[in-house]
Amino acid sequence: MPRTTAPDPATTPDPAAGPAPLTPDDLADLHRTVLDWYGTHARDLPWRHADCSPWGVLVSEVMLQQTPVSRVLPRWREWVERWPTPAALAAEAPGEAVRAWDRLGYPRRALRLHAAATAITAEHGGQVPDDHAALLALPGIGAYTAAAVAAFAFRRRHAVVDTNVRRVHARAVSGAAEPAPALTAAETRLAVQLLPDDPGTAARWSVGVMELGALVCTARAPRCPACPLLDRCAWVVAGRPPHAGPARRAQRWAGTDRQVRGRLLAVLRQAHGPVSGAELAAAWSTDPAQRERCLDGLVADGLVEPLPDGTFTLPRS
Ligand code: ADE
Repeated sequence: MPRTTAPDPATTPDPAAGPAPLTPDDLADLHRTVLDWYGTHARDLPWRHADCSPWGVLVSEVMLQQTPVSRVLPRWREWVERWPTPAALAAEAPGEAVRAWDRLGYPRRALRLHAAATAITAEHGGQVPDDHAALLALPGIGAYTAAAVAAFAFRRRHAVVDTNVRRVHARAVSGAAEPAPALTAAETRLAVQLLPDDPGTAARWSVGVMELGALVCTARAPRCPACPLLDRCAWVVAGRPPHAGPARRAQRWAGTDRQVRGRLLAVLRQAHGPVSGAELAAAWSTDPAQRERCLDGLVADGLVEPLPDGTFTLPRS
C-alpha cells in the first residue's frame, strides 16, 4: 500500500516481484478501513449469520465457488432445510444431491458434498471437523474450502483466497489490474502477510475483502469512486495500468459439452425413475456423437448410472 502522491505512469508494476512491504501502521489502517466498510456494506447472507451451522457454511462455500450468490441463495436454503446435517445428506443416494443441485452448474460439486457428508458421518461422528488438516482430508474438499470453513465456521486463522480476494490484493496492494491466471505462491504469501493477528478479526477481514471484490472491485467495471481504498490503492496510484497478460476469453456456452451435459442431466433430474436412451436422445438431437460423448463423460464422472437394461438413472450409490 504505497503512500505515493504522484502517480508515475512510466512504472509498470511487476506482480511477480511482489508489492513493497506495508508498515505496521499501513496494515492496521488497511484492516480498519476494510472492516469498517464491511460493517456498513456487507450483504446479509444467511451463511454469514452467527447461528449458521458449520455444515451450512460448508455447503455455501462449495456452491459459491463457481456460482453467483443470487443463484446460490434459493438452492442453499433448500439444501439446508432438506439436509440440515451431514448425516441427513449421507442417508440419501448421491443422485438426490445431483437432483437438488438443480442448475447451479459444475454438478460434480454435488457429488463432492455427498462424499464429504458421508465421510463426516462415518469418521467424525456427524460433526464437520474444525481444523484445516481434517477438513482437507475429507473427500472433495480442497485447500480453498478447507480454509474458508475453518475461518468462517470456526474462526480459525487461515488466509481465504478466492478470485475476488485475489483481484483486490492484485489491485490494492500489488498495483496490477488482474491477478495471475492461477494462484501463485507469492499471492498466498501476501494473503498470509495481510491477515490480522486475531483469528476472529482475520476471518472478518477475509470475508470483507471478498465482499469488496464482489461489490466494488469487480473484474470488468470496478466502482472505484465507491471504494474505501481509493486513496491508497496501488493500482489507482500507478495510474490504473491495463492488464499486462493475455485477455481472458469469455466462456462460450451455446453448443458446448457443458450445455449438452446440462440438458442430459436435466432430463434425469426431472424423471423419477430410469430414463431410456431415446428420451436422452431427444434432449440433444443436433449432434448425436457429441451427445454420446457427453453421456459417457457423465457416466465416467459418476453423475449418471447406466442400468443393465440399457436405461439410465441418477447415481444410486
Ligand atoms: N461469504 C462467505 N463466504 C462467501 C463466499 N465464498 N462468497 C460470497 N460470500 C461469502
